[in-house]
Amino acid sequence: MTALLELEQLFYRFPGSAEPALRGASLRLEAGQRVALLGRNGAGKSTLMLHANGLLRPSSGQVRVAGEPLVYTRRGLLAARRQVGLVFQNPDDQLFSASVAQDISFGPLNLGLDVVEARRRVAEAATLCEVRDLLDRPTHALSGGQKLRVALAGVLAMAPRVILADEVTSGLDPWMRRQVFAIFNRLVTQGVTVLLATHDLSAARQWADQVAVMDAGQVVAFAPSDAVFGDADLRRLIGADECMEV
Ligand SMILES: Nc1ncnc2c1ncn2[C@@H]1O[C@H](COP(=O)(O)OP(=O)(O)O)[C@@H](O)[C@H]1O
Ligand SMILES: [Mg+2]
Repeated sequence: MTALLELEQLFYRFPGSAEPALRGASLRLEAGQRVALLGRNGAGKSTLMLHANGLLRPSSGQVRVAGEPLVYTRRGLLAARRQVGLVFQNPDDQLFSASVAQDISFGPLNLGLDVVEARRRVAEAATLCEVRDLLDRPTHALSGGQKLRVALAGVLAMAPRVILADEVTSGLDPWMRRQVFAIFNRLVTQGVTVLLATHDLSAARQWADQVAVMDAGQVVAFAPSDAVFGDADLRRLIGADECMEV
């Protein structure tokens, strides 16, 4: 089966930084997978995600989308972003238009879709993320949970085949969190793959089929959830055995 997204041996060091953030990180995602990306702060989860749709370019290694090497031109990046959508950890990094409707339609219009098709996609994404009644609202006046759903709708309106979500469930109340997982699950049944970076181990264990574990800039494990949570060394790496005592 051709992988939807392949990250192969990625190396990356942030400018001015002594240590590389990625040291040979590899990951291969296929269609319809629910994957949790775990690992302590600084392990490289966000940096990995920024490589997956070309926001960062590796110093060595390769990103392949649906089997094709990512090309770092405007056109190549647009093609990659049609397939790989990234929902940022902080929605304020993602929302920049005056109104919710404009924000959600930015992606589809940027893809060069005609206005009618773009409008259709915006309506569909807004319905799925339950932000239809927010469409005329200014983005800056929304709550955190509303902003996240708008950011997610903006990504979904591009109809990507892979969604990378960076700690998006962290600041949410339990109801909102359940809603976001419900949206992810609906997408997965349509063949979309969702990769969620999270520190919420119980949510990861319940929701994910596969778990990827990062440590020091590498993906050190990629296995079914039960296998990862059943492995003493991996449990230590993801902090599953930390107790509350100080
Ligand atoms: N913008 C940046 N500039 C310099 N170093 C960064 C930047 N973002 C992340 N890093 C460093 O890269 C490493 C990986 O960070 P990150 O990908 O954010 O990890 P995670 O998302 O797993 O917490 C860390 O050492 C972090 O300090
Ligand atoms: Mg991060």
